[in-house]
Amino acid sequence: MRKKVILITGAIGEIGQALIKNLAQSHENELLTLDLQRLPAEMDGYSTHIQGDILDKYLMVRLITEYEFDTIYHLAALLSTRGEFAPELAHQVNVEGTLGLLQIAAEQSQRRGQPVKFIFPSSIAAYGLPDLATKARDFYVREWDWNQPTTMYGCNKLYCELLGSYYNHNYQQMATSRPVMLDFRALRFPGLISAFTLPAGGTSDYGPEMLHAAAQGKPYTCFVEPDRVIPFMAMPDAISALLNLSQAPRERLTRNVYNVTSFSLTAAEIRDLVLEAFPDARIDFKPDLKRQGIIDSWPAGLNDKAARRDWGWEPVYDVERAFHEYLIPNIRQRYQK
Ligand code: SER
Repeated sequence: MRKKVILITGAIGEIGQALIKNLAQSHENELLTLDLQRLPAEMDGYSTHIQGDILDKYLMVRLITEYEFDTIYHLAALLSTRGEFAPELAHQVNVEGTLGLLQIAAEQSQRRGQPVKFIFPSSIAAYGLPDLATKARDFYVREWDWNQPTTMYGCNKLYCELLGSYYNHNYQQMATSRPVMLDFRALRFPGLISAFTLPAGGTSDYGPEMLHAAAQGKPYTCFVEPDRVIPFMAMPDAISALLNLSQAPRERLTRNVYNVTSFSLTAAEIRDLVLEAFPDARIDFKPDLKRQGIIDSWPAGLNDKAARRDWGWEPVYDVERAFHEYLIPNIRQRYQK
């Protein structure tokens, strides 16, 4: 008999590490984690870890024969800036990797006669606003506004949302009997800020980088102008959002894809919060016009009314609490060690 597990791909990424620590505490389900890298030593014992590639078909077949995936958190992805340097690789990992897993989840749903839950983090990168005037005017975008991404990563996320919805509602629509479909649920996250890890290859990275550099006494040059604004969220809220969406009763969900957000900040406002905590921080601004162009195409805020209405989404960390209760104390402690 196959062993029932929760599968987490991209497990060593920022969301993955935080999610594993959280899920490992509950002891309800065994975790199977997959990543190109090894599990950090401090996470030993949290999961059965497989070091490997989601694009490795032989590995995936081996996993299917051994395990039944009850829920899949499919976190593996190449982020937005990195994706622009290697667009075809981004497409392979972000789209082909997702398609392969959706297929596995669809087959397993049919085999066990019960939907596999497929939880997918999407992003503000799925949006593409044409100019700053429109960005200022349509501040809080709704899920269906401006779905015209300008990055490979954004295109990949948007398309995978559609693929997920397809596998959830229309897969094998020509078959005579309706198969048991997988249960696809996605969140469009704003820029995430963790006190314990740093992102790699994203474009919202200037937020967390500014803070982590200041705490280490390192100078930081921000790659967007001080007035640039996007939404952000503290990592614990991102984890709650994933877990709460995953646990929400299916009949309450009116969409497959939900916006979630906490607070919108300009780069100057982030600098001011950082300076308040670390008055000696040396932060200056030297825009990288290409990366800033990506930020300019992303919305200033997200309208998350559907998530609030359907499954009671509410962030715990507004900007005050995020900085004063979560980020600054934990980051201070981290670098003091
Ligand atoms: N944080 C991501 C990035 O910057 C967006 O989802 O690429």
